[in-house]
Amino acid sequence: MSNRTELPIGIFDSGVGGLTVVRQIRRVLPREDIVYLGDTARVPYGTKSPATVIRFATEDTRFLVQQNVKAVVVACNTASAWALPTLECEFQLPVFGVIIPGAQAALERTRNRRIGIIGTSATVRSQAYNKAILASDDSARVFSRACPLLVPLVEEGRTDDRITRLVLKEYLTPLLGSRIDALVLGCTHYPLLKSAIQRVVGPGVALVDSAESCAAYVREKMEALQLLARKRRRLGTVQPFVTDEVERFGDLARRFLGSRTEQVWRVDLPS
Ligand code: DGL
Repeated sequence: MSNRTELPIGIFDSGVGGLTVVRQIRRVLPREDIVYLGDTARVPYGTKSPATVIRFATEDTRFLVQQNVKAVVVACNTASAWALPTLECEFQLPVFGVIIPGAQAALERTRNRRIGIIGTSATVRSQAYNKAILASDDSARVFSRACPLLVPLVEEGRTDDRITRLVLKEYLTPLLGSRIDALVLGCTHYPLLKSAIQRVVGPGVALVDSAESCAAYVREKMEALQLLARKRRRLGTVQPFVTDEVERFGDLARRFLGSRTEQVWRVDLPS
C-alpha cells in the first residue's frame, strides 16, 4: 500500500492533443511517471454522441487501470464533459478531469463575470463548463461556441496562418460581442493556438488554459490524497500508448509535448 505513491499517473485523450495536459503536469510534478493513452484509432471524440464518448472513455480508463496507475487524468475535454461521473462511479481510484479546474480558473480571472467557452461540438453541447461555473457563481454569464475546425487546423500545424486567423475571427467575434473578459480554451488542442487567439480577442480578455489549470488541480488533489511520489530522485518518464499506428505519433507528440517520450506502443483496447 505504501508503494502506491511510486506508481505512474495514467492520462488519456482521444489522440495526441492530451499531451498538452501531460506537458503541464510534468511542469508542476516533474518526478511523476506518466502512462499516456491516445485513442488515435477513434479520434475525434468531439463529433461523437455522448453514449459513444462515455463508452470510449470507459475503455480508455480500463486500459490505464490495467497498467497499474495510481490515478487517472482525463485530459480530453470532451471525455471529461460527458464521462467523468461514470468513470468516478465505475473505477476505484481517483479520476480527475479538466472541466472543474477550468471553470474555477475562469471565475478567478473574470472581473465582469462574463465568461466565454470554446471547445468541440460535444463539449459545448454538454454544457459541462456552463454548469460548473454557474454551480460556483450563479451571477456569472456564460457564452459558449463550438469550434470544430480548430482541431484539424492545429493537427495540420496551421497554428498561426491566414486561414486560422480567419476561422478564429469567425468563431470569436460573437463572443466578443457578448463582452466576455475571460475565455476558457476548452479543448486539448487550443493551447497551441494561444497567441493567435490572444491577438484576435485582444489584451482585455484573459485566456484560461484548461491544461494548465488541470495540472495545478491534479497536484493539489494528489497532495491532499498523499499520492505524490516521495522516493523518486530522477525525472519522471512518459510512456505513451496509441490505438492506431505509431508512425504519426512522434512528430505530433513533439509539438504537443515539447519534448521526447519513451518508445510508443500500439495497443488494442479491451471492450
Ligand atoms: N481531445 C479533444 C478535446 O479536448 C479534441 C479532439 C477530439 O475531438 O477528439 O475535446
